[in-house]
Amino acid sequence: MTRVLIATFSQTGSTKKIADQIAKGLNSSECEVTHYMISTNHPPDPDEYDIIGIGTPVYFFRPPFIVQDFIRKIKNLKNKSSFVFITYGTHLGNCGNWIRRKLKKKGSTDLGYFKSFGADYWLGYIKRGVMFSPDSPTEEELSSAKEFGKNIAERYANKNADVEPFDPTTPFIYQFERMLVARPSVKYMYSKTFKADSNCDLCGICIAKCPVHNITETKNGKLKWGSECLLCGTCELSCPKDAITSVLDSMIFAPTMIQNIKLSKKKQIPWAKVEHSGGETRLV
Ligand SMILES: Cc1cc2nc3c(=O)[nH]c(=O)nc-3n(C[C@H](O)[C@H](O)[C@H](O)COP(=O)(O)O)c2cc1C
Repeated sequence: MTRVLIATFSQTGSTKKIADQIAKGLNSSECEVTHYMISTNHPPDPDEYDIIGIGTPVYFFRPPFIVQDFIRKIKNLKNKSSFVFITYGTHLGNCGNWIRRKLKKKGSTDLGYFKSFGADYWLGYIKRGVMFSPDSPTEEELSSAKEFGKNIAERYANKNADVEPFDPTTPFIYQFERMLVARPSVKYMYSKTFKADSNCDLCGICIAKCPVHNITETKNGKLKWGSECLLCGTCELSCPKDAITSVLDSMIFAPTMIQNIKLSKKKQIPWAKVEHSGGETRLV
């Protein structure tokens, strides 16, 4: 039996849906799949597996920091095989390439790469009334993911190195945006801009939903954001009182978000009108 570890990060569920289908495809091909949701605790030991699959949403045209850290901490993948899958809303940047290169450097054999759209709950667009790829992953994307799982098993069994190509170079506009949210800026500047106003009743939803446990309640009943922020905006989007604001609402990011919306509509990426309030996003 081939042992496969699928390590997935998924904040709003799209990447998890794809991961489940890939697992189904692998399971139907005599593989034993262990699924690990990437978090800040208890990483599994890759030594116990033959194949490692990494799945992630694209955040700012690269992998989220939590996924980058998970990959950096893997010591050695010699004699192992790997595959990568990503979901994204508009443009994938160098996310897949970054992960594939890192895994290769650690010694693994690349078995393949899968990408699909996922519903784009990105605060910058949602607050402007737009959601890209609202119906993704579609039935078709899910069944391609299952097929991909079968292909991975087949490639591993037959030592077939015929894998999907790398993505083309990221256009300049997105490279520039990626630079705007480089890790030191997020850590030392943007993470400090999150605030809850007087509508906050300390319900704890943002604390519970933050994927990196970056929000705490201080002794004097205030919320405090630490420096591990992914800039995912989950706290802002999930607040039932709409009490949280950050740099993401400021004029610094507005031009790039408006430009991205224009570019993506021009590329005819499916989108829907939405309204957001009280922690809920509704299609209108
Ligand atoms: C913080 C953040 C940044 C994002 N950045 C990008 C991006 O650069 N390019 C893109 O196409 N989609 C981007 N998205 C959309 C997600 O990649 C997409 O919605 C993904 O399917 C979400 O996966 P999940 O449901 O598993 O969390 C971003 C979403 C968030 C929340």
